[in-house]
Amino acid sequence: MAKSVATLSQDLVVSSTLADADTAQAVAKYLQLPFCSKIKPTDYVLIELARGWAIKLPYNAKPWFVDWQCYIDRSHHGKHLLWRACGFKQPNRLTVIDATAGWGCDACMLAMRAKQVVMIEQHKVIHWLLADSMQRLSEPFMERVRLVHADANVWLSTYKEPVDVIYLDPMYPERNKRALSHKGMQVAQFLVNSATDSFSLLNTALQVARYRVVVKRPIWAGALADNKPDFIYRGSRCRYDVYQVN
Ligand SMILES: C[S@@+](CC[C@H](N)C(=O)[O-])C[C@H]1O[C@@H](n2cnc3c(N)ncnc32)[C@H](O)[C@@H]1O
Repeated sequence: MAKSVATLSQDLVVSSTLADADTAQAVAKYLQLPFCSKIKPTDYVLIELARGWAIKLPYNAKPWFVDWQCYIDRSHHGKHLLWRACGFKQPNRLTVIDATAGWGCDACMLAMRAKQVVMIEQHKVIHWLLADSMQRLSEPFMERVRLVHADANVWLSTYKEPVDVIYLDPMYPERNKRALSHKGMQVAQFLVNSATDSFSLLNTALQVARYRVVVKRPIWAGALADNKPDFIYRGSRCRYDVYQVN
């Protein structure tokens, strides 16, 4: 049985490399995590560095930053499969909810083509890091992006606005070391229970979206909740299962 989100976060401590650690102490208080001025190599740390906030895993030299500017620079290249899966034939037409925002990488790509993107993230630390990274950006499309801290299952069931596309990227089922190769994913796997409520999330999304639900899956995994998609966009590392609504 996987540990709960709350239990895993309690292993995290907050620290700072800056001379003035007041901000870090305030962040620790807000996130209800212990502040620690001297960290050990075995610690999982939410750390304030000169470049911004990051998460450092034990014995991992490089900390993980949520870097929206890097996502933006990368997203400008290529015709993304995700855009096709969402049915973005023309830019700025469709409204999208990214119900599993995570580090916001996919949401950033969606925001470049969508009319509006609502990102929902349930985990307090991930949500906080995402918000912190977003507020440092001045890209014009950021005006169309909204971040919500909530359980998407609950939030969507009371959402009253029309939404065209709902995008889901639940934690991948654990399988082998390949899933651990990406540092952002390692950090997410430390923080988040991998087997959350993604089955009910798919059902809720299918009731709320008025055009499509798109689910990102590893190429080796079956369809989410064994629910056969209407069509599939296959990439080299992942695929997008598309459910047409209506
Ligand atoms: C694989 S990560 C998403 C990665 C994201 N697509 C990206 O580009 O960074 C899955 C995220 O979904 C979040 N999540 C899972 N179930 C959720 C729910 N019911 N409501 C909101 N967020 C959820 C997890 O906390 C985790 O951060």
